[in-house]
This record gives sequence, structure tokens and C-alpha cells, in this order.
Amino acid sequence: MTTGRAAVVSGLGTWLPPRVETNEDLSRTLDTTDEWIRSRTGIGQRHIADASMATSDLAVEAGGRALKSAGVESVDALVLATTTPDRLCPATAPLVASRLGLGTISAFDVVAVCTGFVYALATAAGLIATSTADRVLVVGADTFSTIIDPGDRSTRAIFGDGAGAVVLRAGEAGEDGALGPFDLGSDGTGSDLIMIPSGGSRDPRRGAEGGVAAGDGGADGADRYFRMYGKAVFRNAVEHMVASAESVLERSGWADAGPDLLVAHQANLRIMHAVADRLGVPRDRCAVNLDRVGNTAAASIPLALADASADGSLRPGDRIVMTAFGGGLAWGSCTMRWPAVVPV
Ligand code: UT7
Repeated sequence: MTTGRAAVVSGLGTWLPPRVETNEDLSRTLDTTDEWIRSRTGIGQRHIADASMATSDLAVEAGGRALKSAGVESVDALVLATTTPDRLCPATAPLVASRLGLGTISAFDVVAVCTGFVYALATAAGLIATSTADRVLVVGADTFSTIIDPGDRSTRAIFGDGAGAVVLRAGEAGEDGALGPFDLGSDGTGSDLIMIPSGGSRDPRRGAEGGVAAGDGGADGADRYFRMYGKAVFRNAVEHMVASAESVLERSGWADAGPDLLVAHQANLRIMHAVADRLGVPRDRCAVNLDRVGNTAAASIPLALADASADGSLRPGDRIVMTAFGGGLAWGSCTMRWPAVVPV
């Protein structure tokens, strides 16, 4: 058994904005059908934040619930995974920390799009391994509805808003909830496959007075929207999630027995099944909640963990592999035995 200091999951909290948008709702204004969306993606509905809500609002809700689940009121650091920060500058994490009453702790954002939560877990585990922190709140929160082109049926049908968070505490490798090993990777040659064309330093779209009109790009504003080249992303997602999950399963000594549950980024049911098939994991051992929440980007994995725990498909002691893929391109995986936490 592995020994030594490790980051251990001690609480899990999630939050979804109350408003639900069904496939039927979408088909009223977009050239799409419930049948197309369900058969091509497995998604039936998604939650959408009201216009008054920003990512920090979702992050505060989920973060507060994770603290409650862990039974703690303070942490030493907060890592927020998001691609939809409240503002381009500054990071959103310090605002979330102060709104949660966490004081002047270290707080920063991690941008790895749909792999953000796994990257944030690895970053937080590093803070604990180096004794920089004994307890860290890791939040994955995204409001993709704020960057989706309302007229783009191929992305609007997929993405939803949400937030999930875990508390990590310093503990022992080998105990339930201990994270690792991790596998992280990226391939910038595919950076154009998932992107927002304007609003960054590559294309700031300066306004008439010379100020930077961030996110205002294009004569019709279309360049400020999220774009995804679905087919190429699909192929890459399967390839990299399989290789990445294999790497951590191998290093965990679980390659032969396989995991009790595969918790993959909820991008597309066809992708999850392809990954499961290639890993030799039965499809009924995949955590699936995208039928109810869609692709919630950085919130996807904690939301899937909470739902699997609630429906009994994830029990304390179960061996799980988490794997994610998204823009960057970036991917990451991690194993753990599920601890006896009660999600809030
Ligand atoms: O979270 C980060 C990682 N993201 C992913 O892993 C997503 C990976 N990609 C996918 O999940 C799939 O590629 C999509 C679900 C995005 C698209 O499915 P697809 O089977 O790859 O479809 P496609 O993009 O090849 O499009 C096939 C057709 C197109 O029509 P034409 O050009 O053949 O006439 C699309 O315009 O389906 C059309 N289409 C739709 N039709 C009805 C695309 N979206 C829709 C829609 N309703 N919502």
C-alpha cells in the first residue's frame, strides 16, 4: 500500500441554477429536435443561470455546501476551475473566498476548460503535498450559457451551467478519499478546435476610444462566442481519455480488475461509452448524469460524483477513475477510493 502525505476528499457540495431548459424548449427557437439531441449526445435538459447570476454566485453556493459536507468553516486555499470567470481580470477565486468568509487565504483560478476540475484537484493536491496548505477548497464552476452563441444549435444543445466543489484535507495515501496518481496532458496544436476567437490579447477588438472592448468582438459580436469543432474534438476526447485513464489505472494497480465506477467528463454519452468500451469497463459502470445537466464544463465531474453517490451507484470504498478532456486541448485523470462523505 502507498504511504505518505496525500490530499484526501473530505466533503462534496454542488449547486445548479434552478431554471431548466429542455430539448423541447430549444426546438422552439432552434432548428433541432429532442430526438437528435438525445440520440447524438444523451442530453435531455440543462440548467441555465439567470442573467443576474455570474460564475462566482454558483461557486459560492457549491463551495459553501462542500464546506458544510466536510464539517469545516475554514480552509488554507481555494482553487477555482472555470473558463467563464466573472471578469477577464482579476481571477474570480478571491471573490468567492471572501464571500464564503474564508478571509485572506490563497485563492486563484485554473483555466483548463472541461478538464479544469482535474487540473484544480492536482494543483490543490500539490499545495497539500508541499505543506503549503493542510486544507483546500476546490471548486469547478461554469456558466457556459454566457459564452454560447444562442443561434448555434451544435453548442447550445450541449452545454449547461452548474458548480461542484470538494474539500481536500491532508491525510495518508492509501486511505479512502486519497487522490492519485494523476495523469495530466495537453496538445496546443489543437487549440483552435475549442475556442472563443476574440476578447483575448490575440484579438482584443479595441473600441473606438482605444480601450479594449473585451468580448465585444466582430461586427455582429459573433467572435465573442464559444466555438467547438465537434467531430475532431470527439475523436481526440476518446483517444486521450482512454490513454490517460489507462495510465492512472495501471499506476494504481487496478488495470486488470478495472474500476468500480468510471467518472468521465459528461460531454457526450457516445464518447463515454466509447471510452468505457476501450477500457473494458461495462457501460453500466459509467457515472451518467448528462441527461439531466448536459455538459457543465469544470463542474461536470463533481456533479457526476454527487449524483452517483445519491443514486447508490457510488459507495464508500469503491475504486473510481475520473477522466476529463476539453479545450486546450487538455486532458487529465486521477484515481481514488470513494470516501464516506455525504454530499450536500
Ligand atoms: O466538453 C469538451 C469536450 N467536448 C466534447 O467532447 C464534444 C465532442 N463532440 C460531440 O459531442 C459531437 O461532435 C457533437 C454532439 C457536438 C455533434 O455531433 P456529431 O455527430 O459529431 O455531429 P456533426 O457535428 O458532425 O454534425 C452532423 C450534422 C450537421 O448537419 P449537416 O452539416 O450534416 O447538414 C450539423 O449541423 O448535425 C447537425 N447538427 C444538429 N442537428 C440538429 C449539429 N447540432 C445539431 C442539433 N440538432 N442540435
